[in-house]
Amino acid sequence: MEIHRVGVVGLGTMGAGIAQVSVQSGHETVGREISDELNDRAHSTIDRYLTRAVEKGRMTQADKDASIGRLTLTTSLEELADCGLVIEAIVEELEPKRELFAELERICPPDAILATNTSALSVSKIAEATKRPERVIGMHFFNPALVLPLVEIVRTEKSSDEALDAAYAWAERAGKKPVRCNDTPGFIVNRILIPLLNDCVRVLDEAGVSPEDLDKAMTNGAGWPMGPCALVDLVGIDIHVHASEALHQALGEDRMAPPKRLLDMQHEGKLGRKTGEGFFTY
Ligand code: 3HC
Repeated sequence: MEIHRVGVVGLGTMGAGIAQVSVQSGHETVGREISDELNDRAHSTIDRYLTRAVEKGRMTQADKDASIGRLTLTTSLEELADCGLVIEAIVEELEPKRELFAELERICPPDAILATNTSALSVSKIAEATKRPERVIGMHFFNPALVLPLVEIVRTEKSSDEALDAAYAWAERAGKKPVRCNDTPGFIVNRILIPLLNDCVRVLDEAGVSPEDLDKAMTNGAGWPMGPCALVDLVGIDIHVHASEALHQALGEDRMAPPKRLLDMQHEGKLGRKTGEGFFTY
């Protein structure tokens, strides 16, 4: 099955990045947010990164114009009616995702692939909200979606081979490095990374080190491309806390529970880069 038109629902950090990956790789793409303001914000983010690619000589102006020309933004889900693949990147909560998938099933063609970019929620529970769970899979991108190559292609017990293979092939055509995995808590990367980042945050207080020194230690001593505090700021404290809670609920290990320091930061609205303040200021 060849996918020509792609829908992306939710155009926050991840959704806007995924929409850009899609238009850059030649796919007509319909992005949907709940307000014109949020659509405008996503459009200017995508335009900014495309302009940067032109300035850096990675893309011609003509390719940029063609990419932007493939992007349609809407507030109406009905405009996803002829999409062969829809990738959901809305709030990390089960009920809104389940409601959305039931709507998508009503709107999209019967053979459309409905994919969730959830970080740590159960893809099966999302699929159960539809009458075609065989068309529902996970497609988990990594932040920044434009830069990081990995996409986890997540299989539930009911996902069809055909839907998984088509999504895998689409991700490869989009220039990504997909891997296949099962619908187990945190899939592959987050199962490892979330508790590891929680350990890093606990070390701050247990060992009395500053976020600057912790990051300096892990970049210079362990070869991380960025330090753990900078990474949690990039991912977003709220997203990280949600993923920690989902993993903790599913697997019950203490180190999966979000550290108090992160819960306090979330309470204070210090959510990382997106609010201008997290472990560091931006
Ligand atoms: N969006 C788009 N492009 C971005 C970007 C963003 N948010 N951040 C950086 N870039 C681009 C830069 O523009 C730059 O391109 P350029 O050649 O045009 O300048 C290029 O990426 C490299 O950026 P920098 O030179 O600023 O810095 P680095 O070389 O250190 O790379 C990084 C930045 C790619 C973020 C790198 O530090 C990195 O890979 N960090 C680890 C990120 C990571 O682990 N992400 C996974 C998080 S877990 C997750 O997402 C799962 C979720 O479910 C929680």
